[in-house]
Amino acid sequence: MKIGIIGTGPVGGSLAKNLAALGHQVKVTNTRQPTELARKAQELGASPATLPDVVQDVDLVFIAVPFKVLAEFPKDLFRSLPPR
Ligand SMILES: NC(=O)c1ccc[n+]([C@@H]2O[C@H](COP(=O)([O-])OP(=O)(O)OC[C@H]3O[C@@H](n4cnc5c(N)ncnc54)[C@H](OP(=O)(O)O)[C@@H]3O)[C@@H](O)[C@H]2O)c1
Repeated sequence: MKIGIIGTGPVGGSLAKNLAALGHQVKVTNTRQPTELARKAQELGASPATLPDVVQDVDLVFIAVPFKVLAEFPKDLFRSLPPR
C-alpha cells in the first residue's frame, strides 16, 4: 500500500519503520527543515514529503501528532483522499 504518515515521533516513527519494513511505500512529514526531514525519513525507510504532499496519492494516512496540532492543519488537507 501507499501510506502517508504525519508525525515521526514514537508513534509515527514506529508505524513508518515497521510498515516500510513490510514492503509498504511510506512517506512521512514532520515540522523539520527539509534536510533533517530527509535524514529522518531515510532512517525510517520512508520518503520525505511536505504536509500537502504526504496525503496525495496514498491509500491510507496515519495522523501521529498531538491532538492540538490538528486544528492548525488546512481545512481541505484531506480532500484528495478517496471517500470511505
Ligand atoms: N507515544 C505514546 O506512547 C503515545 C501513547 C498514546 C497516544 N499517543 C498519542 O499519539 C500521538 C503521537 O504521539 P507521539 O508520542 O508520536 O508524539 P510526539 O513525540 O509529540 O511527535 C509528534 C510528531 O508530530 C510532528 N508534528 C507536530 N506538529 C506537526 C505539524 N504541524 N505538521 C507535521 N508534523 C507535525 C512532530 O514533528 P517534529 O518531529 O518535527 O517535532 C513529531 O514528529 C499524540 O496525539 C499522542 O498523544 C502517544
